[in-house]
Amino acid sequence: MLKLTGINVDLAGNRVLRDVECAFDRGTTVGIVGRNGAGKTTLLRTIMGLTKLRSGEIHLNGTLLSALPGHARAAHQIGYSPEDRGIFPTMSVEENLRLPCNTLKMSKRDIDTRLQVVLEVVPDLGPMLQRSGSALSGGQGKMVALGRAIMVGTRLLLLDEPFQGLAPRLSQLYTEALGRLRNLQPELCVIITESNIKLLGDMPDYIWTIERGSISLLHSRTEQ
Ligand SMILES: Nc1ncnc2c1ncn2[C@@H]1O[C@H](COP(=O)(O)OP(=O)(O)OP(=O)(O)O)[C@@H](O)[C@H]1O
Ligand SMILES: [Mg+2]
Repeated sequence: MLKLTGINVDLAGNRVLRDVECAFDRGTTVGIVGRNGAGKTTLLRTIMGLTKLRSGEIHLNGTLLSALPGHARAAHQIGYSPEDRGIFPTMSVEENLRLPCNTLKMSKRDIDTRLQVVLEVVPDLGPMLQRSGSALSGGQGKMVALGRAIMVGTRLLLLDEPFQGLAPRLSQLYTEALGRLRNLQPELCVIITESNIKLLGDMPDYIWTIERGSISLLHSRTEQ
């Protein structure tokens, strides 16, 4: 479904992604594991069109995603939860959740329907809807960033180190939310980066490792 071929990315004159070749299927949960500075964030940002390709192509189903500017990519039902959460402090939680759908000019009715799905998947967001984006703990911000990604990510979800720094209780809630999402949207492809493989538990169907910008398949669940 999502296919990266011959991806090379340079940042400040350094090669940060090297000859990346990988494919991710619909209906799978994929872990991408690598230590600090390995290139995990750059890989997700590259899929979102937030970094410039030196070479290579990214296909999503029949679309040459890499030919589209970043702002046009979310319209292909890709949700992205960045490492730094990216919650707008001057907006309420609900406004933060609605924002990517508004940007895509979805109808109010469709956005309302989507919000109900998000509240079903992440019920802990319900009591927080009117809270200011500036009044969230780091962990709560991660839950909001997950909800916001789910609002538009009906085909592909990119989660950058969601478990990093999350208290055990919130990690548990986050994992349960992903389980509910899996059941509700079995066709969804979920890509989760982490530096600590243990934080992914038994969630991923496949695990790729990334080291100095090179990616390789570690194993699939059937091989474990
Ligand atoms: N804007 C930038 N300009 C120059 N170099 C960068 C930039 N962003 C990242 N890099 C470099 O690219 C490499 C990969 O960084 P990246 O943030 O993708 O790694 P990461 O695997 O997400 O690390 P972490 O676990 O710390 O989040 C690092 O060597 C980093 O220093
Ligand atoms: Mg990172």
